Amino acid sequence: MAEEPVNIKEFQELARKSLPKMYFDFINGGAEDQHTLRENVAAFRSITMRPRILVDVSRIDMSTTILGYHTSSPIMIGPTSMHKFAHPEGEIATARAAAACNTIMVLSCSSACSVEEVASSCNALRFFQLYVYKRRDITAVLVQRAEANGFKAIVLTVDTPRIGRREADIKNRMIAPRLKNLEGLLSVEVASDKGSNLEAFTAATLDPSLCWKDIEWLRSVTSLPILIKGVLTPQDAIKAVEAGIAGIVVSNHGGRQLDYSPASITVLEQVVHAVGGKIPVLFDGGIRRGTDVFKALALGAQAVMVGRPIIFGLAAKGEHGVRRVIEMLKDELELTMALSGCPTVKDITRNHVSTEHDRLN
Ligand code: FNR
Repeated sequence: MAEEPVNIKEFQELARKSLPKMYFDFINGGAEDQHTLRENVAAFRSITMRPRILVDVSRIDMSTTILGYHTSSPIMIGPTSMHKFAHPEGEIATARAAAACNTIMVLSCSSACSVEEVASSCNALRFFQLYVYKRRDITAVLVQRAEANGFKAIVLTVDTPRIGRREADIKNRMIAPRLKNLEGLLSVEVASDKGSNLEAFTAATLDPSLCWKDIEWLRSVTSLPILIKGVLTPQDAIKAVEAGIAGIVVSNHGGRQLDYSPASITVLEQVVHAVGGKIPVLFDGGIRRGTDVFKALALGAQAVMVGRPIIFGLAAKGEHGVRRVIEMLKDELELTMALSGCPTVKDITRNHVSTEHDRLN
């Protein structure tokens, strides 16, 4: 393999070689049979391109606006926990790469660096991903710290009333992470006889009673826009609009929660239709190529978030690796746009791709 990986798959292999098995398995793996994990990637393959010819593509502009913020491309860094499992600089390296690439980073609530450390490390555009803890007072403090430290939106993850059953973590007796944001606020001693301390920690701390009415409560503790991450049905998308949510993320948590959930790309279009342009729809799950980004945009996503590839880059080459992963996806998207006859992101339409459903009808 070449020293500098030429695609995400090669970054994944470098990460595999660089990390202890317990950490690589935690990052790479999914829930139970890992069906959704595999389908997230595989489902992109059944979508084909419908390139248009003889369009002037001498200049390609990938820039876009996400919740009013201008970014260099529609590729964002999704929230993933514990970046120090991948690299000693943790989320600080990731944030610096986001700033260098002029993109938005969504910092996981379960990060290894605190919101304050990340905020003071660089001027990256940042959103804060939130898990709601049983201790609502502590949850409110986290939100307020994010707001005070210049985070621009709250991304409330709603697919995790309990953690999915990740069998590799159980076998590896995965250690419970030290969550920097909770230091001095919450200390939970967990002893697990099931194998994964992570599972025991989550069960002890996250609030499984979280429901729609709690959006009001969250709004009462912050003036930041609230997005919800983990929408997979049109019904819930409509509820989100009715609840006054600022945006949704179509996501199955990278196949780490409910196995046999649909591949996110297969439900994107129906969610987009249900929302009817009232709020932005973001997307994540299985993005490994620029063509995947293009397909998600063609099916109505305003932007995509990338999860594992970012951590693969971080594990392989630190901040530089994260930059390379983002640049690689951007380069691939730019080429895809040129070869499809789309000089700007707005030129990418539903007509530029064909799904299995289209071909059957
Ligand atoms: C995640 N994800 C996640 N989501 C979230 O809302 N909060 C979190 O703390 C985490 N942590 C996390 C850790 C790791 C190691 C992974 C791989 C994923 C889910 C993440 O935001 C996203 O939904 C998926 O990773 C998207 O799929 P891909 O891009 O990894 O295929």
